[in-house]
Amino acid sequence: MIDPDYELLESQMRALLVDESDALAAASNFVAFLHNALDDVNWTGIYVLRGDELVLGPFQGRPACVHIAIGAGVCGTAAASLQTQRVADVHDFDGHIACDPDSRSEIVVPLLVNGDLLGVLDIDSPTPNRFSASDQSGVELMCASYCRLQEQRATFI
Ligand code: SME
Repeated sequence: MIDPDYELLESQMRALLVDESDALAAASNFVAFLHNALDDVNWTGIYVLRGDELVLGPFQGRPACVHIAIGAGVCGTAAASLQTQRVADVHDFDGHIACDPDSRSEIVVPLLVNGDLLGVLDIDSPTPNRFSASDQSGVELMCASYCRLQEQRATFI
């Protein structure tokens, strides 16, 4: 698979979101943009930090589990560690939470604004080992840009 041009995608995404003051609208278009820009993905969405858990936010794909404890599954591990989790085969990840049975690989990126965790971005693929190291760098670039835009807004989702 040819790597997408993440720098181009980032500038397109920024153009789409830069004038949007509503955080829910921006988050919804962010995940929709990414989901449609990437090949071979079956779920893309944001889990929002609410108190001491993650709660389902805007997404594209099948209905998903709503509440994830910090430290649980791939998303909760990303939130607890503040580190991107790139999972080549979800069947090998101890504690993986299966929402869509088609998902075989997954990448989860923490969303940090001014050092505070807002939530995580989760992308699933039906193909094992779908996400390369360069996909990780590209998705992290897009998340960092999205978080910088979020800094201008008064509230999150
Ligand atoms: N697989 C995730 C749960 C969310 S779904 O993939 C949409 C996890 O283990 O945290």
